[in-house]
Amino acid sequence: MFLFTILSILIIALISWYKKHFRRRDYLYSKIPHPYHIPLLHHSLEFIGKTPKELFDWMEDMSNELGNVYFFSTGIFGSGFAVISDVKIVEALLSSQVQLDKTIDYNYLIDWIGTGLLISNSKKWFTRRKLLTPGFHFKILERFVEIQNNQANVFVNILQEYDGKEVDIFPLASLYALDTVCEAAMGINIHAQTKQSDYLKAVQEITRIITIKSFDTTKQIEFLYRFTEMYRREKKLIEELHAFTDKIIQSRREELLMHNEETSEQNDEIGTKKKKALLDILLSSRVEGEPLKNSDIREEVDTFMFAGHDTSKSGICFVFYCIAKYPEVQQKVYEEIIEVLGDEEEINLQKLNELHYLELVIRESLRLFPPVPYYGRQLVEELITEKYTFPKGMNVYVSPYLMGRDERIFPEPKKFDPHRFEVEMANDKINPFSYVPFSAGPRNCIGQKFAQYEMRMIAAKVLRKFKLSIASEITILSELVLRPENGVNLKIEKRK
Ligand code: HEM
Repeated sequence: MFLFTILSILIIALISWYKKHFRRRDYLYSKIPHPYHIPLLHHSLEFIGKTPKELFDWMEDMSNELGNVYFFSTGIFGSGFAVISDVKIVEALLSSQVQLDKTIDYNYLIDWIGTGLLISNSKKWFTRRKLLTPGFHFKILERFVEIQNNQANVFVNILQEYDGKEVDIFPLASLYALDTVCEAAMGINIHAQTKQSDYLKAVQEITRIITIKSFDTTKQIEFLYRFTEMYRREKKLIEELHAFTDKIIQSRREELLMHNEETSEQNDEIGTKKKKALLDILLSSRVEGEPLKNSDIREEVDTFMFAGHDTSKSGICFVFYCIAKYPEVQQKVYEEIIEVLGDEEEINLQKLNELHYLELVIRESLRLFPPVPYYGRQLVEELITEKYTFPKGMNVYVSPYLMGRDERIFPEPKKFDPHRFEVEMANDKINPFSYVPFSAGPRNCIGQKFAQYEMRMIAAKVLRKFKLSIASEITILSELVLRPENGVNLKIEKRK
């Protein structure tokens, strides 16, 4: 009897505690469309055993069924997730003055890239963003375009070997993206496209491990994960990657110091030989009068390596896929390249800016295949919009992928029509928050110009020399980024 009374008191206390803390949250959740769920566990069973491909398809199916805002939850004490592709709500979220954190899935990256620009919040993010923005000043971009030009030449040389044959462009695009971002971030050429290096292997392997961790729920229980071989491997790789970046930072610090002594104050402008990589900007920066520590610099350099490599490889291979799939688009791109570049082998930033049709093609490709199909924010405060109120603590995912395929935003979404951007931009019809492959608002992609030039450069170099056609159709899924399930297999033919 005594035990029964104690138990009843405990249950009543638990219920009132739950109601006090979660009643409003549950009420707000219930107003958002959601799939059928079972009590207590909510939708958590949906995720057990699903492959990344199945999960990706499930999220799209849910949007087709429930609309451009839907909700799921991993249990009464678990997290709530909203997936949004409603332009007004996307705008409210991305331009919100309410403080937003990144969702928990970004945490899998922290051991490698620390809390650099991609993951940091509040004051740290603001200070770093201000500090790094000059790194994408047009003078610096001119220098980055030079790097892209040289690396794209290497890419074209490699493609020569496949003349008349089929090639999976995906791994080749990955190496080009790695080479360009590495040289831009650290000022060194690792020759990823032509040589195997330990650094390259480590970047590829850590990206694979992080992907597995973010999808395999058994690897997410930290206590158990620590006993696995994968955990030991992850730690070892992170040590190797950090040692590599540390070494580059240290030697560049010493080089700049020597150079400073030799040339004193002259020639300290952005874009000059002296400040040629993002690393140099970080090395010469001061926060509250103090230079940045090596560990602070490392997390930013590693962030650029991660954020600038996987995304670009995805963007590049889908641009090639779209161009190969639509021969009339390819022909127009080719004609524009010949008209703008003539016989000129070197391509600079001004020339890239003149490739206007190619720019539209890339935009259209990113509409259908945005490299980051979902990105998340955790609400530090309630977000109130016209249709719904999203409770504090909720994880909200913006989906440029679902938006790009929504006929309410882009009429005839399946049609590959680069001109839709021209017409819509000219008429000022399009809300900037309806097309967000690089996100929008204060936390948009700092590297978007770099990425756009990188894609234009490689497309221009390749298409001038080769005709592309599809060798086999693709299926897509999302791991850390959107990717083709079995590569992008193209037939390559040298132009006469
Ligand atoms: C096609 C290529 C790219 C795409 C589609 C892309 C897309 C994005 C998106 C959607 C975000 C926002 C992520 C979020 O809110 O969590 C982002 C942020 C970021 N991107 Fe990119 N990105 C690309 C290339 C690059 C490149 C080449 C770099 C560096 C050279 C870069 C560096 C970053 C950084 C540092 C952030 C964090 C910015 C901040 O929070 O202040 N990205 N990118």
